[in-house]
Amino acid sequence: MKLIFATHNPGKLQEVKELLAPKYEVIGLTELNDHEDIPENESTLEGNALVKARAIWEKYQLSCFSDDTGLEIDALHGAPGVLSARYGGIEKDPDLNMDKVLAELSDVELRTAQFRTSIALIINGQEQLFHGVVKGTIRKNRSGGDGFGYDPIFQPDGYQTTFAEMSNSAKNKISHRGMAIAALVEFLKE
Ligand code: IMP
Repeated sequence: MKLIFATHNPGKLQEVKELLAPKYEVIGLTELNDHEDIPENESTLEGNALVKARAIWEKYQLSCFSDDTGLEIDALHGAPGVLSARYGGIEKDPDLNMDKVLAELSDVELRTAQFRTSIALIINGQEQLFHGVVKGTIRKNRSGGDGFGYDPIFQPDGYQTTFAEMSNSAKNKISHRGMAIAALVEFLKE
């Protein structure tokens, strides 16, 4: 069965392709030559994931899923949240995003946070939501050169390293996206 994953990110796509083969043939938007920018203007991660999945479903009438992730910092009342990609400006520059978070937390001791991923699946016209969360703390400085986004400043609970100091496979085993994808895969394998 064909399943569209509403992403242009080759890393995310490859990971999910491997997990769902051979039962599902997962196809990314780049493979479909689809470069339409679907606006992510909803106030929740679930809402954004659903909007993207519904847009793909309406366009192709093929089962599909999409994900949306946010970093939620307790001292900032859940910010950057749905604004995570563009917190430091429309350039979506991870360094500017981290600079802004670190500046806002400069006098803050309680640095607890979580990454949360929502996945919206539309299969044969039926909608399903899946979630994954990883709790941790925001470091005072960047550490590590791997990963992407806020990885250099996020230390997951139970570890002494940031996500940017972990291998991809170690991160995927405990990460928000890893958990949400595992729930999706479990559902689709049933
Ligand atoms: P997206 O919904 O996967 O595009 O994620 C939105 C934004 O959240 C990204 O642009 C990153 O800034 C951040 N983000 C998402 N996942 C991660 C992660 O695993 N590590 C660090 N930052 C992430």
